Amino acid sequence: MATYDFKNKVALITGAASGIGFAAAKQFAEGGARIVGVDRNGERLKNLLSALPRNGQPHVAIEKDLRLVAEAQAVVPEAMQFTGRLDIVVNAAGVCYFTKMNEITPEEYNEVFDVNVRALFFISVAAAETMDASRGGRIINVGSNAGRKGRAWSAHYAASKAAVKNITESLALSYGSKNISVNTVCPGPTKTPMWETNFKGLKAITGKDPEEFWHMWSRQTPLGRVGRPADVANVICFLASEKGGFINGQEINVCGGFMLTS
Ligand SMILES: NC(=O)c1ccc[n+]([C@@H]2O[C@H](COP(=O)([O-])OP(=O)(O)OC[C@H]3O[C@@H](n4cnc5c(N)ncnc54)[C@H](O)[C@@H]3O)[C@@H](O)[C@H]2O)c1
Repeated sequence: MATYDFKNKVALITGAASGIGFAAAKQFAEGGARIVGVDRNGERLKNLLSALPRNGQPHVAIEKDLRLVAEAQAVVPEAMQFTGRLDIVVNAAGVCYFTKMNEITPEEYNEVFDVNVRALFFISVAAAETMDASRGGRIINVGSNAGRKGRAWSAHYAASKAAVKNITESLALSYGSKNISVNTVCPGPTKTPMWETNFKGLKAITGKDPEEFWHMWSRQTPLGRVGRPADVANVICFLASEKGGFINGQEINVCGGFMLTS
C-alpha cells in the first residue's frame, strides 16, 4: 500500500531485482514513482518490471555488473537517456561473504569493495551532479549493522559497510548546497535471498543450519523477530519522502534493536 506520494518522481534503485531493493522499488512505484531498476540479474529485473504498477511512463530496467567500474559509471548516463531526470537514488546492490580471515581471497575482497563501495560512490556522484537544485534530490545508501564494528568472519564486508557510512557523510557535505540529502539505512539480519550465499559460508565455519541462525537472531532482537525487506524499504521511502526531507548525513539502524545486543 502506498504510504508516500512519489508522483512525477524518478527513482533509480540498484540491486532492484531482489530483496531490499526489490521491496523499495515496489513501494516507490506504489507511491507513483517511475522506476529505473539496476541489477546484474536481467531475468529477475524482468520479474520486477512485471510486478510494478504502471505509472504512465514505462519503468526501466538496466542490466549492469557493478563489479566493473565502467558499468557502474554508465548507469546514470544510461538512465538519463530514458528518463531525462533523477530525483531519488537508492544504492541497495551489495554482496556479502562469511569467510574466515585467512581464507579471504583478493578476488572476494575486491568484489565486496567494488560492488558495495566503489559502484555506490560513482553512481551517487554521477546522480548528484545531474540532480537539479530547484527540485533537489535524495540518495539513500544501504549500509549494515555490520559496518558499526569489526567482524571475525566477514571483515571485508564489515569494512565495506563502514566505508558506506563515511562516503554518505562526504556526499551529504558536498551536495547539501544542491538541496540533496544523503543518508544510510543499516539493516540487521533481514530475510532475503542474499542469505543463500551467506549461509554456505556460515555452515562451513560453524556447522550450523540457517534455521538455527534465524532462531538465534530473532531471540537476540529486542523486538523478537528478524527483518523483512519491507521493514527496510519503509524507512528508505520515508527518507525519500517530503516528510524525511530534513534528515541528512545520517546512519539509521533498521533492525528491531538487534545492534544493541550483537
Ligand atoms: N539481508 C540482510 O540481512 C542485510 C543486512 C544488512 C545489510 N544488507 C544490505 O542490503 C543490501 C541489499 O541486500 P539484500 O539482502 O536485499 O540482498 P539480495 O541478494 O536479495 O539483493 C542484492 C541485489 O544486488 C545485486 N547485485 C549483487 N552484485 C551485483 C553486481 N555485481 N552488479 C549488479 N547487481 C549486483 C544482486 O543481483 C541482487 O539482486 C545490500 O547492500 C546488503 O549488503 C542486507
